[in-house]
Amino acid sequence: MARFDNKVVLVAGGASGIGAATSERFAREGARVVIADIKDDAGQALASELAKLGATAVYRYCDCTESNQVAQLVDGIVDEFGGLDIAANVLGGGHVTDAPGSTVHTTSEQAFDGTMAISLRSVFLLMQQELEYMMNHGGGVIVNVSSMASLAAEKHATLAYGIAKAGLNHLTRFAAADYARYNIRVNAILPGTTATPLLRSLFSEEQIVEMCAGQQAIPRAVEPDEQANAILWLASDEAAMITGVLLPVDGGRSAFGLQGPPASAVARALSK
Ligand SMILES: NC(=O)c1ccc[n+]([C@@H]2O[C@H](COP(=O)([O-])OP(=O)(O)OC[C@H]3O[C@@H](n4cnc5c(N)ncnc54)[C@H](O)[C@@H]3O)[C@@H](O)[C@H]2O)c1
Repeated sequence: MARFDNKVVLVAGGASGIGAATSERFAREGARVVIADIKDDAGQALASELAKLGATAVYRYCDCTESNQVAQLVDGIVDEFGGLDIAANVLGGGHVTDAPGSTVHTTSEQAFDGTMAISLRSVFLLMQQELEYMMNHGGGVIVNVSSMASLAAEKHATLAYGIAKAGLNHLTRFAAADYARYNIRVNAILPGTTATPLLRSLFSEEQIVEMCAGQQAIPRAVEPDEQANAILWLASDEAAMITGVLLPVDGGRSAFGLQGPPASAVARALSK
């Protein structure tokens, strides 16, 4: 028997990067997977690839910043698959106008609102629907994807992105505290630098190597599959007593605190 046999799993933002790795891992471990995203081509291609492996996987378009679309998505999953057991809310990122390097007085309202919508409002709207269903149907598990940028000011992440992800941490803990009585667990992973298409579109390979060496104990980017491992574990019964946790998946970056590793460690990592 596979770990998630017959479980109905929603992966929001499941067409690319960490979400795609998560969709694939759930499908390979027996779940029936709904990939929700705005990237039709990538979502449909992934669903067909997983179906060829014998998995039940479908793609559904949903702009998760829109409450009516999110409500339709969750209603549709329940109609089609008879329930919703697990939700991985993976989507997130910065608005196109939210430029790295921006600070308080240089962040436009459009950039601030856009990033909040993608990285915080979307998960709030998803959780409203997911919790409403789960609390009335015996429980469930939610795993959110935050970021290490939620914990401290970072030169590679925008102000709005850090605020949105810090809000997501609070949303995760608040819901964990409030919905445990309905047999619902809510946790989040905090990815460090992860080798996804999003990251590669923002930084060169050289910059990625330098970022990891400069801030992690294990000086390489985390693979999307390694983030998916943590999401699946938190979603599984193995984590039955874990809720409200913000789990760094960061190659040991959190071990260094705000200062980063000593210069000698950076030099050593870069010389390899
Ligand atoms: N890659 C990293 O280094 C890193 C680090 C920390 C946190 N994260 C977080 O991990 C998550 C996944 O990031 P990724 O690197 O895999 O990015 P990605 O861009 O590859 O994947 C994000 C997915 O979310 C989808 N999406 C965006 N807006 C959406 C919307 N309105 N409705 C539905 N789907 C939408 C995108 O189409 C995409 O498929 C994000 O929450 C991101 O903030 C990533």
